Amino acid sequence: MPTRRTVLEVLIGGGALAIGGCASGSGPDPAAAWRNPGAGERDPRRWALAHAILAPNPHNRQPWLVDLPGTDEIVFYADTTRLLPATDPPNRQITLGCGAFLELLDLAARERGLRADITLWPQGEPQPVLDARPVAHVRLAADGAVKPDPLFRQITARHTSREAYDLSSPPAAADLARVVAVAPSPLTAAAVADKAGVARLIDIGARGFAREMTTADAAQESARLTRIGPAEIARHRDGIALKGPFLEGMAAIGLLTRETMGDPNSFATRSAIDMFAKTIAATPAFVWLKGPDNSRATQIASGRAYARMHLTATALGLSMQPWSMTLQEFPEMAELYRETQAALGASPRAPLQMLVRIGKAKPVEPAPRRGLAQHIRA
Ligand SMILES: Cc1cc2nc3c(=O)[nH]c(=O)nc-3n(C[C@H](O)[C@H](O)[C@H](O)COP(=O)(O)O)c2cc1C
Repeated sequence: MPTRRTVLEVLIGGGALAIGGCASGSGPDPAAAWRNPGAGERDPRRWALAHAILAPNPHNRQPWLVDLPGTDEIVFYADTTRLLPATDPPNRQITLGCGAFLELLDLAARERGLRADITLWPQGEPQPVLDARPVAHVRLAADGAVKPDPLFRQITARHTSREAYDLSSPPAAADLARVVAVAPSPLTAAAVADKAGVARLIDIGARGFAREMTTADAAQESARLTRIGPAEIARHRDGIALKGPFLEGMAAIGLLTRETMGDPNSFATRSAIDMFAKTIAATPAFVWLKGPDNSRATQIASGRAYARMHLTATALGLSMQPWSMTLQEFPEMAELYRETQAALGASPRAPLQMLVRIGKAKPVEPAPRRGLAQHIRA
């Protein structure tokens, strides 16, 4: 008779359980935002914003709100109801997601011959956490000198891939060099592709995932944001989407519920740790990114640079997945945080902003998006 473990392994091994993509079901289409973004929009701000909401962002919280005063201005806020207090106490990762949003907004504006004049933190940098003050004021101005950026075309093709990456065909050194080269000074980015360096990061990364999953507050935060099955995915269109043909059966026998996922000692948690250890083991290379300090400005610049790195990788046929667990700043992760910083020559004062798997993998589905209307303040 099969045990719960063998059932889960068969499902995962057969690809029956997928993480992160969209699913068909009743209710709004969670992938709609990816198809011809901004179609029919006459206001170029709304057209550009329809692209910006496709940015990578932690836990797919999509924490972006805008006001559209006048005819050419955007006031951009972080949605403070969509933070990750347990796993991202200083809101560093959420701020990176805001930077990625601004980069895609800028790419879309350029596509329309518009210069995006971006003033960051017009009312000051919020510390130690984000608050109600705007992240940025943006003015779009027609400018004949503005040129389209070829990365624009990758916006709808870019997806975070949590697949096993092909170890028999690692990314070419020249391609890794192109990906890290897009990070502008004073940021620093580099690739780790040597056997010992990759093995060390796989080991740290696997321990980081296990630590997160066995820390009750962190595990429960992720569990609360997990959408199980097509109906929940369509209703929320955010968070961590779990789907697969046998999912309802697994949920029905109590293998995959928010309660078991949030329980550090459950079978679901142990299975997830095993599964993620296998995923990270299938990593031929990593890239990382850091700045000269840990200011909000550096975090925004890092989010912008990460978006460009991922778009560049997409253009080169490479997949990426951030592996952020050991960059998280909650007390139970402190020792692994220090170990990760030390391994890559960073420090808490000028820490790593992103650590990311990179390699070749089969295509994945787009992650859900809530749609532009949800981001415009009433
Ligand atoms: C700062 C930051 C941290 C992230 N950390 C992780 C991570 O640890 N694991 C992961 O699988 N994805 C991570 N992601 C990717 C997001 O989960 C992903 O962007 C989001 O689910 C939307 O999916 P998409 O990138 O395919 O549009 C991170 C993204 C950002 C910007």
